[in-house]
Amino acid sequence: MNAALPADLFRPETKSLLRFLTCGSVDDGKSTLIGRLLYDTKLLFDDQVATLASDSRKYGTAGDDLDFALLVDGLAAEREQGITIDVAYRFFATERRKFIVADTPGHEQYTRNMATGASNSDLAVILVDARQGILTQTRRHSFIVSLLGIRHVVLAVNKIDLVDFAQDAFDTIVAEYRALVAGLGFETLQAVPISARHGDNVIAGSDRTPWYEGPSLLRHLETIDVARDAERLPFRLPVQWVNRPNLDFRGFSGTIASGAVAPGDAVIVAPSGRSSRVKAIVTADGDLPRAVAGQSVTLTLTDEVDVSRGDILSAATARPELADQVDAHVIWMAETPLTPGGAYLMKVGTRTVGTSVAALHHKINVTTYGEEPARTLALNEVGSVQFSLRDPIAFDPFDIIPGTGAFILIDRMSNQTVGAGMIRRARRQASNVHWQDLQVSKTARAALNHQKPVVLWFTGVSGAGKSAIAALVEKKLHAAFRHTYVLDGDNVRHGLNKDLGFTDADRVENIRRVAEVAKLFVDAGLITIVSFISPFRAERRFARDLLQEGEFVEIHVDTPLAVAEARDVKGLYSKARAGLIKNFTGIDSPYEPPEAPELRLDGANQTAEELADRVVAYLADNGYLEGPENRDWII
Ligand code: ADX
Repeated sequence: MNAALPADLFRPETKSLLRFLTCGSVDDGKSTLIGRLLYDTKLLFDDQVATLASDSRKYGTAGDDLDFALLVDGLAAEREQGITIDVAYRFFATERRKFIVADTPGHEQYTRNMATGASNSDLAVILVDARQGILTQTRRHSFIVSLLGIRHVVLAVNKIDLVDFAQDAFDTIVAEYRALVAGLGFETLQAVPISARHGDNVIAGSDRTPWYEGPSLLRHLETIDVARDAERLPFRLPVQWVNRPNLDFRGFSGTIASGAVAPGDAVIVAPSGRSSRVKAIVTADGDLPRAVAGQSVTLTLTDEVDVSRGDILSAATARPELADQVDAHVIWMAETPLTPGGAYLMKVGTRTVGTSVAALHHKINVTTYGEEPARTLALNEVGSVQFSLRDPIAFDPFDIIPGTGAFILIDRMSNQTVGAGMIRRARRQASNVHWQDLQVSKTARAALNHQKPVVLWFTGVSGAGKSAIAALVEKKLHAAFRHTYVLDGDNVRHGLNKDLGFTDADRVENIRRVAEVAKLFVDAGLITIVSFISPFRAERRFARDLLQEGEFVEIHVDTPLAVAEARDVKGLYSKARAGLIKNFTGIDSPYEPPEAPELRLDGANQTAEELADRVVAYLADNGYLEGPENRDWII
């Protein structure tokens, strides 16, 4: 079909472009509808029509008529080879408008395909069969469409001929649908009774539905105004590349995600916050007085500010948000499920940043729209996820500016897209406090101590022996003139964290604080020994991500719960069993053992002394007890 691309589709002229998505299964008549639109708008080659006529006679189910489903399915078969994501884009045009239809097959992979097809779509046509009405898949499609930010929907009630063009059948379906999607935030919802097979209300109105006063499907698609919104939003230009052909010219190129821009406008560079003004909007055909959302442009600025690929040039009066933790909706697209602690690359606009899943709040049932507790997100599932980002990003909530609030998740190993997401809000604002450039660096401090600073992160159930081993490790290092500090759960909970208890939320905050403190101690050049139950994988992952490669050594003091309980050094297990202590780890609160700790210590069968020796040996073997070779930095 690509061969049939009309050349004028790409000509920069006045005809506007509408991108839309069709949702429904072949049974609903989706293929027939698309085939009819292509046929009636005369975008098929003569030989395709001839083949269609003969195929229709041979295999068709439409009597003497052309069976459009054969046409689209035939095209589908052609394109199936070698395409991983099953979305086909079809093009057609009328006098008034050009159209790109994203056609996504309705089988079980629907969410992944829909997410792909819907990105960039302005409108969704949701097909239902007039005889069947609203089905589970109608609910799913509508939810995903709304999640993906599509605000204009057409409910095409197809096969209206098969219910004898009955108005009540149509009205009942429309009423049920309106009630269903009331909370989904659609700005326009146009219901049209159609017969894709016979053409009623597809291109032109039908005299067989005299009771229907609305526009035909095509008329609605030709006239609906979807473009305005993006131009009214604050200006955002995610920088795709810095265009520097010679020393005198430095331009910033990309596609405007939202808003409009003109020479003289005050802009800032996000995330750095540096400000400047637009000098010119440069194109191959000369400078422009103004450019709007959707246009690809090159801007020059009046000042020599630092701008790189991935930055966002933004209206100075309405800046994007900055955060290093965000909450987002995620549609999971990979066979391997998303799990808390998982590390990925997040691509937001033109920026790619390392991220890890700090928490999976819940998943969303795409049929009932209800929230459900979840430990993982499987293929095609939708969930609410909290991400920790390695560096702060600039973004806008997806609801406000989709172009700077949408992202994809990429697997670090395979480079595959594993999820699509929509940022809902900043979980933690990146502070506007910049690091002071101090005169003495982390390396300098560490070298004076003849060691490489590191966090030794002991995790394990209460009574596993963490604190005893940690204390011995410190004693041995100290005896060898190393500089250390122990952060112990019981101790830190007496001071910095005395406001925290043992609910999941409090434990998460407990670990977040101690991880930040440990990071500062590493910066101070110390071998930092952390001894906390730290029961959740995601929080330990968070701590690891705060530090540089090699600065985090996770040590699982692997003492079976039964052994720790039998020892019951502090008498807490018996209290917990008696119900006197709530949320006790291992009793009524979970412990998630590390999957790949740097060290696993057998706390049931070896003494604390032996295990402490193993930790010290690990440090010696891995170069932590040697200062950096190069000491030139010392004054
Ligand atoms: S963590 O789960 O948030 O990492 P942390 O290591 O700070 O726990 O504190 C654990 C210590 O608090 C235990 O060794 C024990 O002495 C005490 N404690 C009191 N209540 C509980 C509880 N409900 N669960 C676990 N430990 C508890």
